[in-house]
Amino acid sequence: MTADSAPFIFPHRHLLSIEGLSPDDITALLDRAEGYIEQNRQGDKKQSLLRGRTIVNLFFEESTRTRTSFELAGKRLGGDTINMAAQTSSIKKGETLLDTAITLNAMHPDVLVVRHSESGAVQLLAEKVDCAVINAGDGMHEHPTQALLDALTIRLRKGRLQGLTVAICGDVAHSRVARSNLLLLGTMGARVRLVAPRTLLPAAVDRLGVEVYTDMEQGLKDADIVMMLRLQLERMQGSFVPSLREYFHFFGLDYKKLAVAKPDALIMHPGPMNRGVEIDTEVADDINRSAIRQQVELGVAVRMAVLEGLGQQPRNN
Ligand code: NCD
Repeated sequence: MTADSAPFIFPHRHLLSIEGLSPDDITALLDRAEGYIEQNRQGDKKQSLLRGRTIVNLFFEESTRTRTSFELAGKRLGGDTINMAAQTSSIKKGETLLDTAITLNAMHPDVLVVRHSESGAVQLLAEKVDCAVINAGDGMHEHPTQALLDALTIRLRKGRLQGLTVAICGDVAHSRVARSNLLLLGTMGARVRLVAPRTLLPAAVDRLGVEVYTDMEQGLKDADIVMMLRLQLERMQGSFVPSLREYFHFFGLDYKKLAVAKPDALIMHPGPMNRGVEIDTEVADDINRSAIRQQVELGVAVRMAVLEGLGQQPRNN
């Protein structure tokens, strides 16, 4: 498939979550994204599919790769991308969010890409604007484009998603990445395991329909994919782990723990990484086993597919 064949229209108004997407929706996005990978490696990366369209990146929380890759993705499709680093500081968050949404809406953007520290905030904003909204991470809820880029990485490296055993390890409780990934991987027929200390598992973990382990050796046994999560200290009130040293000892990925996984198990991490906390630095940089850099590369391709699919929809504003 070439990325510039027939226009790609995603059959949903927004991309707020993986929940609610069908296997066909997911496959269509992944196929489209795959067509952009080669183009992103060429000197001339630019297309004009989103010419005249305006994409606003509205980030209420810090970000390096997500914000940058959305910006690049919009630009590579020929759209006009602007970045807004929103400040939430002393103003009440609800008011700020709705005021911002109404203000931006009056400028007729075509796509709003939003990251916010509150779960559900992006959905709320989507209800107040006329344009398409993409969730770039809302609190501890979802981060759909991260799950899509992770799925594309797995599909390219392993040839499929169906039937693979994926161990998602670490701070699951605070992770929107884990949530979106377990929903997507479950929808696509992979077997998901969550591996974490009890204090870092979500409250209703037994209702998620996944296998749960509190021991790395058991959780990683024969896994095809080992996906490590950042210890999200900024979302923790109080102490969830005795010490970072002890956390690394029991839950940090090193070669010793990795040895029980399949010999060709792929190592993933959404970034940013805490080296020496959830992952050993040598394992993270292992060019044969780690897909961490490829995840970043494919993030641009996935966001191009999502922006293309939503940004070309007819507008009523
Ligand atoms: C993740 C996020 O923001 O949820 N990062 C990312 O988007 N690549 C994970 C994290 O912050 O640990």
